[in-house]
Amino acid sequence: MSSIPASHREILVTSALPYANGSIHLGHLVEYLQTDIWVRFQKARGHECYYVCADDAHGTAIMLKAEELGISPEQLIETVKAEHEKDFAAFLIEFDNYHSTHAEENRVLAEEIYRRLKANGHIATRKITQAYDPEKNLFLADRYIKGTCPRCKAEDQYGDNCEACGATYSPTDLLDAKSAISGATPVAKESTHYFFKLPEFSDFLKEWTRAGHVSNEIANKLSEWLDAGLKEWDISRDAPYFGFEIPDAPSKYFYVWLDAPIGYMASFKNLCDREGIDFDRFWAKDVSTELYHFIGKDIVNFHALFWPAILQSTGFRTPNEVCVHGFLTVNGKKMSKSRGTFINARTYLDHLDPEYLRYYFAAKLSAGVEDLDLNLDDFIQRVNSDLVGKVVNIASRCARFVTNGNDGVLAPGVTNPELWQQAVDAGETIAAHYEARNFGKAIREIMAIADAANEYIAAQEPWKVAKQEGREAEVQDICSLAINLFRVLMIYLKPVLPAMAEQAQEFLNDDLRWDINIEPLTEHRINVFKPMVKRVEKDKVEAMVEASREELPPVAMVDGEQQAAASTGSVVSIEPLASEITFDDFIKVDLRVARIVAASHIEGAGKLLQLTLDIGSETRNVFSGIKSAYKPEDLEGRLTVMVANLAPRKMRFGISEGMVLAAADDDQGIYLLEPDSGAQPGQRIT
Ligand code: MSP
Ligand code: ZN
Repeated sequence: MSSIPASHREILVTSALPYANGSIHLGHLVEYLQTDIWVRFQKARGHECYYVCADDAHGTAIMLKAEELGISPEQLIETVKAEHEKDFAAFLIEFDNYHSTHAEENRVLAEEIYRRLKANGHIATRKITQAYDPEKNLFLADRYIKGTCPRCKAEDQYGDNCEACGATYSPTDLLDAKSAISGATPVAKESTHYFFKLPEFSDFLKEWTRAGHVSNEIANKLSEWLDAGLKEWDISRDAPYFGFEIPDAPSKYFYVWLDAPIGYMASFKNLCDREGIDFDRFWAKDVSTELYHFIGKDIVNFHALFWPAILQSTGFRTPNEVCVHGFLTVNGKKMSKSRGTFINARTYLDHLDPEYLRYYFAAKLSAGVEDLDLNLDDFIQRVNSDLVGKVVNIASRCARFVTNGNDGVLAPGVTNPELWQQAVDAGETIAAHYEARNFGKAIREIMAIADAANEYIAAQEPWKVAKQEGREAEVQDICSLAINLFRVLMIYLKPVLPAMAEQAQEFLNDDLRWDINIEPLTEHRINVFKPMVKRVEKDKVEAMVEASREELPPVAMVDGEQQAAASTGSVVSIEPLASEITFDDFIKVDLRVARIVAASHIEGAGKLLQLTLDIGSETRNVFSGIKSAYKPEDLEGRLTVMVANLAPRKMRFGISEGMVLAAADDDQGIYLLEPDSGAQPGQRIT
């Protein structure tokens, strides 16, 4: 086969294993689409390439989630896995195998790796003291403890750092600490834990991280940790825990992050057993096959420190490269439920074509770890102008001349060999960009060919030539070249746009193979052109954002924000009617006209805006849960009504000195109260 290059490669590729307690969202998809495009590219180039993944099914979060839903963890992970697989398939992410870490292969491999670590003297045991929930009979990880910040006294702070003042501390320093699960006061309790002696691998890792297995950027980050000195890694958890029990250690379980990367091996093992592939060919020490892990920047320590050290100790091969990408932002900001930009894969699919996103991410991806922004206006513009306006346009403008004028048969030769050769020669540059994960650069090269093709068509004006007697052959030459250029474009775009490529294959009556030297189609019959991609419609994008906004789940409570908003009464609910009060009760409430002199967004807050209110005699800082209804700039200068004698309250983002009044409920919107014009800031309301 001519598509197999001189050096045939054998490649195993993984994406990080998504947790089995939540849905796939567009942030995840940065990773799975990046990996899928890279794998499709490798396969297109004729290499033997396997792409495996799995659900990450273990841990306390999954155990608690199942409990909350009243089902077994096994039921939960099975349901979620089916949902994940469906979403991935809909985005045309084509795994060679999708498994679960809660699988027999993984148990066997995790136990084997643990035995080897132990035999090599790389496991230490010692007693540690941790917070323990005496009601749930559960050791509490930091994020399951809440309390008052010892420094600024902000209430409801999680684990080991205060979101209000930024202090970091040990959960035992929290004032008034409570279990976030049961509300019980945690007690200190001792138990034996198992540790992986990571510091013994410091020298190995210092070398490994500088040997091209991660980018320099990541290596520098890792150096900070390596220079600060590595600590032993706690790989055990006490029962109750959803995971694998540690051999010969009753009621002790492997920490989820111990068996999660082993899940890469287990998923591959499952594939090997099914398809008769030799597992050792990809995992034994010193093999020449290649291994790549694609991950996000938040889990680098697990993949570039713990994981290579474990593989090194246990006699397995280490990865060729840990490929790290940045995080997704939407419209320049962190994804947010209240803004409607925390978009689930399924919500996207309800409104838009998955290939739009595949193309947009590809156009913006590089090999670096900088964050990738999905700007929704740019998304619409980019997809429409590139895919619809440039690529498909070539075929749609020229196909009918060949279909009608020459019975669908392309011309016998290439009329502009220079233009054709330019497009073919770009192939190796484009391939190099794909290989280096510089997809954005690959797309730019591809679009340059599309531009050249469109300029050619515009200059030749086949529709005019077609009207002139005796120039029929010329029309065929022009349009045949254009269609051949379209074919080259689709060959290059096939890893990104597999479904569109399939339609192009149907139209071109060709399998779009990426050969080293692409030959033109001559005297070749094509089929009738059918539209391949619709324009992105703005109202569909807006509907998707709206649907995401509505999907605000009750778990938003977890961040304490909603509770804070409700209990400070930043927004007053008018329904149901409260019980009767006396006039004396009412008169205690000091209601004042206030002018909003400043309003701003708060970093990290989903519902709140920060308001500066002028009440004549002074200004007040108030956090108000009206963000979903008002833009800060529209509020500035407006009059409203505030409760001026509400006791100040510490919230996550600072102290709130009162509240503004608004009609508010979830389905009918939020309406800020406003006095008739002429009212003066500070004026009392009676
Ligand atoms: N279960 C672990 C991975 C174990 S791998 C042995 C995990 N799961 S995750 O569901 O939280 O994330 C899966 C992958 O998606 C990670 O690589 C993570 O970095 C990536 N992303 C999750 N949210 C993301 C964004 N908002 N943006 C880009 N990537 C993101 O971590
Ligand atoms: Zn604090």
